[in-house]
Amino acid sequence: MLALVVLLALTLLAIPPSRLLMEQWANADVLSRSRLIFGSVQGPVRRALADGDDERLASILAGVAEDDRVLAVGLCDAGGTMRGATSMMPPDFSCDSAARSEAESFSHIVQDGRHVFVATFPVSTPAGNAYLAVLNDLSYIAERTWQIQIYVVATLLGFGLVIGGAGAVLIFYLLKRWAESLRQAVENARRGKRLPAGRDMSGIERQIALLFKEIEATRGRSETAEVKWSPQSLHDLLATTLPDAEIIIVSNREPYIHNRRNGAIELQTPASGLVSALEPVMRACGGTWIAHGSGSADRDMVDAQDRLAVPPSDPAYRLRRVWVSEEEQNGYYYGLANEGLWPLCHIAFVRPAFREEDWRFYRTINQRFADAVAAEATTPDPIVLVQDYHFALAPRMIRKLLPEATIITFWHIPWPNAETFGICPWKEEILDGLLGSSIIGFHTQFHCNNFFDTVDRFIESRIDRETAAVTLAGHETLIRPYPISIEWPPAALKGQLPVEACRRAVRERFGLAPSACIAVGIERFDYTKGILDRMHSIDVLLTLHPEWRGRFTFIQVAAPTRSKLASYSRLQDEALALADEINARHGQDGHQPIRLVVRHHEPPEVFELFRAADLCIVSSLHDGMNLVAKEFVAARDDEQGVLILSTFAGASRELTEALIVNPYDARSMAEALNAALLMPADEQQERMHLMRQQVREQNVYRWAGRMLLDAARIRQRRRVLALAGSAL
Ligand code: G6P
Repeated sequence: MLALVVLLALTLLAIPPSRLLMEQWANADVLSRSRLIFGSVQGPVRRALADGDDERLASILAGVAEDDRVLAVGLCDAGGTMRGATSMMPPDFSCDSAARSEAESFSHIVQDGRHVFVATFPVSTPAGNAYLAVLNDLSYIAERTWQIQIYVVATLLGFGLVIGGAGAVLIFYLLKRWAESLRQAVENARRGKRLPAGRDMSGIERQIALLFKEIEATRGRSETAEVKWSPQSLHDLLATTLPDAEIIIVSNREPYIHNRRNGAIELQTPASGLVSALEPVMRACGGTWIAHGSGSADRDMVDAQDRLAVPPSDPAYRLRRVWVSEEEQNGYYYGLANEGLWPLCHIAFVRPAFREEDWRFYRTINQRFADAVAAEATTPDPIVLVQDYHFALAPRMIRKLLPEATIITFWHIPWPNAETFGICPWKEEILDGLLGSSIIGFHTQFHCNNFFDTVDRFIESRIDRETAAVTLAGHETLIRPYPISIEWPPAALKGQLPVEACRRAVRERFGLAPSACIAVGIERFDYTKGILDRMHSIDVLLTLHPEWRGRFTFIQVAAPTRSKLASYSRLQDEALALADEINARHGQDGHQPIRLVVRHHEPPEVFELFRAADLCIVSSLHDGMNLVAKEFVAARDDEQGVLILSTFAGASRELTEALIVNPYDARSMAEALNAALLMPADEQQERMHLMRQQVREQNVYRWAGRMLLDAARIRQRRRVLALAGSAL
């Protein structure tokens, strides 16, 4: 269509010059013809004049006028009288209107509406100059010009159509060939066919073959329900679906902390679900983990680039420490993250606090980590795994620095409903920051739904619930549930004594009788964990079932955490007081029903306690997932022990064979404790067997694998689109 318009425009433009050319040519033609006429008749005319033979003169001139294009001819004698004028001589054309000079002269006149070209030639006679006037009818020129214009237009149009048609046929042919070769390349790639000897793959064939290899690997993985997820399968997945991909993790908490104690440097593994989940993944994948260097000896252990290889005993990946001053830590970590976002996202009825200066530090530190990602990245499109509520702004910041990066943000804590999130003064900035990610992951579909509702309420964007995606300013972010888990088998299980030996060791350590029933609770001293609530339920248990007094002990291991904050130190005080109160009420003969141990335990100690326990209590008031529940299950290779699990922990959606409780209801939790203490061994075994199967299959390698598969799909889609773009 466009080509046709252009052709028409060119044709129209060609008309005026072609007309001018035609007119110039016609004038020149008439002129030369008039001269020719004059040349051929001037002799006879002169003689007829000399003889005074008007009849002969008239006959000569009539002969000239026989030419179609000559309108009339006449002779103006020296006296100015018209003689021998032919029949078509216009009556009002007189010798006065003919130019008379010493040389030939030409003029245009309009006679009865028609254009006439008058050529006047002097003829010398003894009586002075006579003039031969030749009048040419120019109307044929207009006719010719019109005809020529039609020819020009027709020729140009015809020419254009022929060329255009030929071009279209050629393009069609080339496209057909290209499509055929593309189809062939896809077919070859699909069947894994080799090219004939001597022929190399073209660039596009190579890319298609590579893409197919990756897609096949991706499909193979995702469609194989029975994939046994392990460090090796995760490693293989990376090699096949994301070859050459660079993995960078960003988290606040570092996996290894170096602390100085009594002049020596100690290595500590922090109490953090995030770290327990990600550390085995990094050991399997390799890459760089960027985290806050929070230990008192951390600076002594890094190189000039603030890096060190970890795990220190058997290095598998790189830890890059980022430094944060105390003032910054107060604002970013204690302030905005833990006094603002943490209580905002957990329904534990602790009021969130939002302070402007905390927000400033939060932004600064997010930018510092984003800059560290850009500095550590050695490729333009690394896979960046941003962790948790400490870095809600970092995804957008990283996207600005590395537009090609695949950014997967995982939110380890619950996402509240839109109304609750609306409390946050910087809700739009936080949502915008997160939507810089390629994927945002939550533990449960419920949290994904809350996130969609929040975006819907506060940000102008396109939400597609069918594909589970949010598009903001042309950038698409997938929102997906990825229930986090633990490594299987857990490293901490290695070197553990048999269950019986653990039972003996723990009972001896706490001075308990060999037959004593033990319940354990192991976590950070955090108000979301429902530590007070479980103590209340023990109080109720011992009140309603006094037969357990002296026979039942609850060991609560609580690692001090965020103690600078009033909400945390208050909890510690309250828990100590409540334990004393309950012990005073139900203790007997030196036996205390509650043993509160406030210190950090390394994983092997934790696992020994799990193995020694009859039951484990996880009574979180609200928890994204809760990995303690899964670790307890993983520790029990004897398939014994009962898990009491809060319905408000994400883990309750997976570990359905636990005794599910409402921690706000002390009475029913007490009954669940009683039921657990009375549960027969075979029922324990049945439940534990199913839960172990769940954790074994849905382990942390699967969690990471599913995220990386989705990342691989995003990258493949981008490459297919780029390929299509470059091919067309
Ligand atoms: C939760 C958070 C983690 C955090 C962990 C320990 O699990 O989701 O991001 O690392 O608590 O808390 P802390 O403040 O000591 O890192």
